[in-house]
Amino acid sequence: MAPSSAAQDRAELARRMADTADLVTVALDALLPRAEGPEQRLTEAMRYAALGPGKRLRPFFALEAARLFDIEERPVLRAACALECIHAYSLVHDDLPAMDDDDLRRGQPTVHRAYDEATAVLVGDALQSTAFEILAHPDTHDDPAIRIELVRRLARASGAQGMAGGQMIDILGVRDDLGAAARMQRMKTGALIAFAFEIPLVIARAPDQKRQALMGFAQDLGLAYQIVDDLLDAEGEVATVGKAVRKDEAKGKANFVTLLGIEEARMRVEMLRSQCKAHLEIFGPRATYLRECADFVIDR
Ligand code: IPE
Ligand code: IPE
Ligand code: MG
Ligand code: MG
Ligand code: MG
Repeated sequence: MAPSSAAQDRAELARRMADTADLVTVALDALLPRAEGPEQRLTEAMRYAALGPGKRLRPFFALEAARLFDIEERPVLRAACALECIHAYSLVHDDLPAMDDDDLRRGQPTVHRAYDEATAVLVGDALQSTAFEILAHPDTHDDPAIRIELVRRLARASGAQGMAGGQMIDILGVRDDLGAAARMQRMKTGALIAFAFEIPLVIARAPDQKRQALMGFAQDLGLAYQIVDDLLDAEGEVATVGKAVRKDEAKGKANFVTLLGIEEARMRVEMLRSQCKAHLEIFGPRATYLRECADFVIDR
């Protein structure tokens, strides 16, 4: 690979992220159900939730990590769309009045605001089913054992031991020390981010050494992602973040920033940045854009 400057790599990353977001949005549009009759309200609201202007970060991670292996793009893209359906569902439910009671998501009214609460509950339900329907479909992979492995891992990452369990801990507010906050993060947001990297690992039937390196990267990246989300909540502006800010403080919720303070939180993020890059060393130049991903997540 020709030597390139950090600025060129960064510009190339931005272009790749935009291209991937478009690719994923088109693929998701084709995979989401369409209906006629009264249930059309549900399928329209599903599209509103899933196709809105999100960053498609998790699909990007999956597709970029897939470049570390010699595998086809199609199975990774389908599994990445399944993951994005779960992510979109988690946001729709997270915003409900019974949870965070938010009116703005991705710069637009939340689903229960644009439609109504019952529709938002059903959108979450149906996006979740769609995710598993996509994974289980023969088009995702010829080998049923691989499809089952993807189903099993996504189910675990989104259920009581993953995202949903983490949301429960969040709502109960049980995290007065860093260990508890870190455990919540691993479940609430870390598990779905980690699944993005599990997609190519499962499809490539990757050896242990590569699995450990990539999962180490995923864990540190997920933690950095959450600390940055908490920093944005503390310091960001609605116009750039696209959702309400100062929410955690207003609700008296402990997060990494309230527990560590802004300076210490920033220091941890920098430590995680270098750890992320160290995990990728074994992949050499093939991991250039994944390295840049860590910078993107941290500097957003
Ligand atoms: C936001 O996720 C919510 C959390 C899981 C903390 P993203 O930052 O990936 O949001 P979108 O998908 O780009 O809207
Ligand atoms: C949302 O966490 C996590 C999930 C949806 C799993 P937050 O409640 O902190 O996310 P934002 O700040 O509303 O995006
Ligand atoms: Mg929440
Ligand atoms: Mg929220
Ligand atoms: Mg938040």
